Amino acid sequence: MTTYNNVLYQTDNGIGMITLNRPKALNALNSELLTELNGLLDEIAQDDSVKVVIITGSGDKAFVAGADIAEMQNISPLEGRAFGKFGQAIFNKLENIPQPVIAAVNGFALGGGCELAMACDIRIASDKAKFGQPEVGLGIVPGFGGTQRLPRLIGKGRAKELLYTADMINAEEAYRIGLVNRIVAAEELLSTAKELAEKIMARAQAAVQLCKAAVNTGMDTDLESGIAYEAEVFGLCFASADQKEGMSAFIGKRKPNFSNK
Ligand code: HXC
Repeated sequence: MTTYNNVLYQTDNGIGMITLNRPKALNALNSELLTELNGLLDEIAQDDSVKVVIITGSGDKAFVAGADIAEMQNISPLEGRAFGKFGQAIFNKLENIPQPVIAAVNGFALGGGCELAMACDIRIASDKAKFGQPEVGLGIVPGFGGTQRLPRLIGKGRAKELLYTADMINAEEAYRIGLVNRIVAAEELLSTAKELAEKIMARAQAAVQLCKAAVNTGMDTDLESGIAYEAEVFGLCFASADQKEGMSAFIGKRKPNFSNK
């Protein structure tokens, strides 16, 4: 496993733990961090021993306070477009790696930080977390998918209000509007994320990963195509040892013992 300057990575019993690590800049996403995250995601996507990924930010203040404003300050329109596309491709990769990804949002998740959290499958917020898309206050629009994922997640009207006002909202409000799945006390954030990861890992992993693929594919297409895709992956499950095990365990009134095959 490669070592990185701005991203810490550890594996523990099937959980891949990513910590974005530029605490002096509140973990702001500069090109170097993004390049490293990109490389790490490639490694994780190929690593069958990792079943669930958790992403958090280092320090007690920020998940990610956005893309690095100092780095963007003097770029040209073409450089801006390239930077946006670069980050978008990484977040698309994150959204589509086989394993489920849980964002453990430990503090500020602003701009690119909120966009990063939205590219994860599930978001757990610390009670200290704050969310927002402050870009219009900087004279830009969100560029790492925020104008697209925010309305898909919380609805068009609420998304537009957050985008147009640049308001920062607390964890309670983020929970109320469906931006996060749950809120926990800051000191319980990582243990809660790990408990959730363990619950997911106790299920049949191929089935979990096919659920992810089916939801992602279906959300970006019409219902008929999504339903058709579901039928294909449903059929595919019957080629797995875990389907045999899961159903015979039910019939035999015992707990399944999945082999992830
Ligand atoms: C670069 C950042 C940063 C950022 C914080 N820092 N956010 N550096 N880019 N996005 C740096 C500060 O400059 C400062 O460095 C240090 O981190 C601590 O931040 P402070 O502002 O001193 O902390 P505080 O007063 O507690 O305020 C916290 C904060 C504020 C409210 C989160 O830092 C803030 O508003 N940050 C910017 C948030 C933002 O606008 N994000 C969107 C970016 S645009 P020094 O060296 O002074 O100690 C974006 C676009 C994505 O994300 C798409 C791109 C294509």
